[in-house]
This record gives sequence, C-alpha cells and structure tokens, in this order.
Amino acid sequence: MRELRLVTGNMHKLQEFQHGLGQLGITVSLLKADCDEVQADTLEEVVRSCLDQIADQGHEDFILDDSGLFVHALNGFPGVYSSYVFSTIGNDGILKLLNGSEDRTAHFECCIGCHLCGERIIVTGRSSGEITMGPRGSDGFGYDPVFQPDGAQRTFAEMGLEEKGRYSHRGDAMRHFVAELDKRMGRNNR
Ligand code: IMP
Repeated sequence: MRELRLVTGNMHKLQEFQHGLGQLGITVSLLKADCDEVQADTLEEVVRSCLDQIADQGHEDFILDDSGLFVHALNGFPGVYSSYVFSTIGNDGILKLLNGSEDRTAHFECCIGCHLCGERIIVTGRSSGEITMGPRGSDGFGYDPVFQPDGAQRTFAEMGLEEKGRYSHRGDAMRHFVAELDKRMGRNNR
C-alpha cells in the first residue's frame, strides 16, 4: 500500500501528513468526505465514529485524525473541546486562563484512525511541553503559537514542517501508525 487518502478540511494537516508519511514511503492525497464530530469523552471515540461514518459512505483506504490540547493546570481543558474552544476564546483565552498559574505544562494528543482493506488501525501520539507566556511564530495553525514542546526552544509556529514533525503529537502518531502498518502487512506489501 503506497497511497492513502486523508479526510480533513484542514490544509495544514494535509501538509503535515504528506510530509510525515511521505518520508515513510506513503503518498497522501485528499479525500473530500463529511464527518459529523460527535461529542465524546475521548479523541479515540471521535475517531471511531468518523471512521464508521465515512466507511458507511462507501469509502475505503482512508486516514483521519482528531487532536486536542490538554492543559494540566486546567485539568486537561480544552482536551476534546479543543476545536470549540479555539474558535471561541482562541489562544488569547488560553493565555488568560493561565494568568498567574505557575504550572504551564500541557500536552497535545493526536489520534489517527485508518480504514484499510476492511481493517482498522487506531494509534495515538503525544507531545509534552508548555504553554508560552505569549504567542510566538506565524507558521502552522491552531494552538501552535502558544505551545513549546519539551526539548525545543521554539513554539510549533516557529518551526517548519520537518521540525514540528519531529516533536509533534501528529509526527509521533504517524510513526506509531507506520510501525503498526508494517507489523500487519509487512513492509514489502505496503
Ligand atoms: P481537530 O483535530 O481538527 O479536531 O483539532 C481540534 C483543535 O485543536 C482545533 O482547534 C485545531 O486547530 C487544534 N489543533 C489540532 N492539531 C493541532 C496542532 O498540531 N497544532 C495546533 N493546534 C492543533
């Protein structure tokens, strides 16, 4: 298997998948399909529901992800509500909520789901770091300007695709995904 179609409306995610999976020998193109994001307690539940919905529309061999930012001093908020929170209070709102907090640690999670030859692969990746004192950088999307991963001196928004992929939850999830794919199908048959 050398080609997968990504279900997303987010062109930044498409670029990240094309870059990350491209390095691992898989070509990624866009699949236009609709998924109603259910309100759920975990990213994995959202991913499972979207896999069902898109498979029910007759599609095969596709991949998708659901991601979230979990701020530790806010008990994991916004987590599964990351999309709604970003579109309402945005990065400024997250920074305000953390005003005066000594603990600025947070992590991102990315759950990837794939429907391939009638089988499912679901993996999760993680990136630990902290919320910066203010936004920095203009690349990327979403919470990228306020998240600096552990071991880096730059926020995701100050990194190119290559560097973000090395540190990010999505990069981590892609590496788990390809390892699982290789285990199930064998490298030569992919
Ligand atoms: P979703 O995975 O598209 O549902 O993302 C949920 C929310 O988290 C959206 O507001 C995204 O902008 C944000 N988000 C998801 N992935 C990332 C990322 O890699 N960096 C920054 N924000 C992200």
